[in-house]
Amino acid sequence: MTAAVSHSGRGAPDLSVSFAGIQLKNPVIAASGTFGYGIEFEDVVHLAKLGGLVVKGLSKEPMIGNPPPRLYETAAGMLNAIGLQNIGARAFLDEKLPKLREIKNTVVFANVFGYTREDYERTIEILNEGEGIAAYELNVSCPNTAQGGIQFGSDPRLLDEVLTTAKRVARRPLIVKLSPNVTSIAQMAHVAQEAGADAVSLINTFVAMAIDPVTRKPRIANVTAGLSGPAIKPIAVRMVYDASHAVKIPVIGMGGISSAADVVEFMLAGATAVQIGTASYWDPCATEKIVNELHEWCAEHDVARLADLTGKMVTE
Ligand SMILES: Cc1cc2nc3c(=O)[nH]c(=O)nc-3n(C[C@H](O)[C@H](O)[C@H](O)COP(=O)(O)O)c2cc1C
Repeated sequence: MTAAVSHSGRGAPDLSVSFAGIQLKNPVIAASGTFGYGIEFEDVVHLAKLGGLVVKGLSKEPMIGNPPPRLYETAAGMLNAIGLQNIGARAFLDEKLPKLREIKNTVVFANVFGYTREDYERTIEILNEGEGIAAYELNVSCPNTAQGGIQFGSDPRLLDEVLTTAKRVARRPLIVKLSPNVTSIAQMAHVAQEAGADAVSLINTFVAMAIDPVTRKPRIANVTAGLSGPAIKPIAVRMVYDASHAVKIPVIGMGGISSAADVVEFMLAGATAVQIGTASYWDPCATEKIVNELHEWCAEHDVARLADLTGKMVTE
């Protein structure tokens, strides 16, 4: 351990981090789609204790999502095909954001998705009208309907186009959430940076599936689904490592995090902050518990300033 991270038993460890001009009291952010619109968790989690929260993916119109079954537990993971069900950006501003703003000291990120460039543009324009959103997180893992279903996040040219459009309209910093379903995450992170992203977050879920051998039916009505949870963690850590070496902008890491030690692992790989997704399904208090654990972890391991660990993996 270097002198820069020595805690020496004095005072409380400093867990604060910052990226894209946003200050967080700690690096723990609740991940999109696993934490509702935040307020639904108000009774089980002290939201102000978290570094921040990302709300469910928002689109320009409300969406009902996919038919059930939409969730299936796998070995150390979870399959989901929720289908980006949401109330729409306008209803979010009218019904959810005012309640979130009553909770002081909570950093709110709005996750945005669309099927065409115009969808992203319109959703961001609507959200620009709301007060109290720290940044937009662009989910680029949706198939682009105008391009016959190729994902924005798996084609460098489409990624560049959608980001250029989003950057033009967004009045807030842009975090680009990258898909792991690509050959080179480093290349996609670089494309995001060059198109003006203020940060990248990764990873979204892996395209996966499961079949019931008795009924011979898919476990998920949509047939394919996104795999998340501890099963994907080592791949996520590798992707955070690759991405953080390819860009200068901050990297927000996620994928299977369920403990303070996992958070530290992602930070050592190059993450400035992290997100917690599936862990909240297994334990709704997981995000807050991990924040508490991080205080203890830093004190125990003599870490005075958690931010100093970013990118500090030791190889010899
Ligand atoms: C049920 C569910 C819904 C999700 N919905 C979204 C979403 O709306 N937008 C998005 O960008 N990511 C969504 N994700 C992906 C998560 O935010 C996260 O990237 C992924 O699950 C990996 O982290 P984890 O292993 O900690 O869950 C969803 C994940 C799950 C499990």
